[in-house]
Amino acid sequence: VRRLRVELGDRSYPIFIGPGLLENAGKILISLGFATPPVVVTNPLVLRLHGRVLLASLEHAFGSIPVVQVRDGERFKNQTTLNRIYEGLFRARADRRSWIIAFGGGVVGDVAGFAAATFMRGIPYVSVPTTLLAQVDSSVGGKVGVNIARGKNLIGAFHQPRAVLSDTAALRTLPAREVASGIYEIVKCGAICSEPLLAYLERKLAAVLACEAPAIVHVILEAVRIKAEVVAHDEREASTRTILNYGHTIGHALEAATNYRRFRHGEAVAWGMIASALLGCFYCRLPAEEAQRLITLIYRIERLPLLRGVPKARVWRALQRDKKSRDGKIRMVLLRRLGQPEIVDNLDAAHLRRLIADFLGTADERR
Ligand SMILES: NC(=O)c1ccc[n+]([C@@H]2O[C@H](COP(=O)([O-])OP(=O)(O)OC[C@H]3O[C@@H](n4cnc5c(N)ncnc54)[C@H](O)[C@@H]3O)[C@@H](O)[C@H]2O)c1
Repeated sequence: VRRLRVELGDRSYPIFIGPGLLENAGKILISLGFATPPVVVTNPLVLRLHGRVLLASLEHAFGSIPVVQVRDGERFKNQTTLNRIYEGLFRARADRRSWIIAFGGGVVGDVAGFAAATFMRGIPYVSVPTTLLAQVDSSVGGKVGVNIARGKNLIGAFHQPRAVLSDTAALRTLPAREVASGIYEIVKCGAICSEPLLAYLERKLAAVLACEAPAIVHVILEAVRIKAEVVAHDEREASTRTILNYGHTIGHALEAATNYRRFRHGEAVAWGMIASALLGCFYCRLPAEEAQRLITLIYRIERLPLLRGVPKARVWRALQRDKKSRDGKIRMVLLRRLGQPEIVDNLDAAHLRRLIADFLGTADERR
């Protein structure tokens, strides 16, 4: 098991990564100073697959453990679910000294984390992420929240966990498409900050896709290290944290333009990174062979859902509404070199629109 710390002053916290953390969770949490039983928030699938191991360990350490279940799926990351969690917390007689364990993928993490941020004006929580995406991305950085009809993640807070326990053995039950979705976020970390991470993925892709230790532990650790460092410099995304959005501006637009149905988040980001690599050649002089290297790696991971039929006008409208755009100008993270991001916001809108329309029209054939 590897361990690292997210440095945020008095809100710093440890992240544990490796196989076998579920069965040792109780012991680890006791050693971190937790003394009372947590309320575990999870969903039925995760509970069925991995609940027994985690709960046995927690019960051994803390006694009987209340469990609050939420429904599985992005469409349940909403205020109704949030209310159910509050209700479950009251039923479990939780008060302001209670704490939560968020046990599941990014959906459970975001909504349970937001419940922790708001219940009695904020109680502690520990993240036990069980998807690769949650282990490399959503469990690190303290962004928590829910979706509303107007859009994704529009209601939320910054609330850092007290600890993160990422058991890589739990990933063995994850469908291949979910594994791939997480790997794209690891590729993103390499693209913005670490060419060696990309090289490692190129060498060990088969082992990483199979979630085999030590390869999977290594890439999660590196991705988390990168995210943790960026977040430590800029917790609230005033400046440098933006680079974590590489591939996401276009990725989000693709998701929105297809009503969040065609792509997993990571897959949309993968297309976004491919488009951004090409834009990087154009706007930031990213060498063509470096762009190609990144694109080749992305294509090796899985067959991405096609872009055919994605409405170009909707993609463009979504890009203009992006949270990062300022005064109507689209801001985007592009690459100068692999591992060297640049935030650009002086793009000529008409030109950019043409490039993106071109990309959407030709990308399926070029792969
Ligand atoms: N807070 C952040 O900084 C941040 C960052 C990135 C993404 N997110 C959010 O994360 C969410 C996506 O997370 P996700 O990709 O983990 O999706 P998810 O939570 O929906 O999980 C995907 C599916 O895998 C199942 N699952 C979980 N663990 C499993 C396991 N070990 N074996 C088999 N199945 C398992 C889940 O029940 C679900 O059906 C989105 O809501 C996104 O907005 C948040």
